[in-house]
Amino acid sequence: SSTVPATVVSMIEALGLTEGHTVLEIGTGTGYSTALMCHCLGEDSVTTIEVDPQVATRADDALEAAGYSTWTVTGDGLVGHPRRAPYDRVIATCAVRRIPYTWIRQTRVGGRILATIGSWAYGTGLAEVTVHGDGTARGRIVGRSSFMQARSQATPTHLGDLEARAAYADTERATRVSPGLLEEWM
Ligand SMILES: C[S@@+](CC[C@H](N)C(=O)[O-])C[C@H]1O[C@@H](n2cnc3c(N)ncnc32)[C@H](O)[C@@H]1O
Repeated sequence: SSTVPATVVSMIEALGLTEGHTVLEIGTGTGYSTALMCHCLGEDSVTTIEVDPQVATRADDALEAAGYSTWTVTGDGLVGHPRRAPYDRVIATCAVRRIPYTWIRQTRVGGRILATIGSWAYGTGLAEVTVHGDGTARGRIVGRSSFMQARSQATPTHLGDLEARAAYADTERATRVSPGLLEEWM
């Protein structure tokens, strides 16, 4: 896996877009990555979701000014956008704790999802999974990545950690994994 953190450009390159593909993007932001994908595939093949209405409006205006009347949706990208599914590719430029099953449901069989996953700050990796006909998706962490957490997941859940500590408070065992691993990004 790469030691250089992923950028929206390297992520788009990793998507392996070809003519005719349709893409769902989560996290429109400035609209920059959306514009790049519109340039590759055409404006009608790209659907992008932004949770912040003001950010979405600004991006939509910027995309129009750049000549792309694309599908900018305002809403929570964690639910995807079933109306235009299935997509060949799903790309998230915000981080998620786990890949929402809605994205898998909305991806064509053989299609790919690329997203930063992680559950605490900096402990994140770029996950790439392929969707299979049996409704599952399989893949691996393909690189290092850091994006802002999806809005509804931005606050860390402390409860889980405390529960785990309480559950194992009176037990002790040797670890087979060096704690030095915690020094590493992923
Ligand atoms: C790193 S920025 C995206 C950068 C963008 N791709 C670009 O090229 O400018 C992350 C964006 O994800 C948005 N976001 C956060 N949570 C979201 C969610 N649940 N659904 C959709 N967008 C979300 C944020 O508001 C922010 O604009």
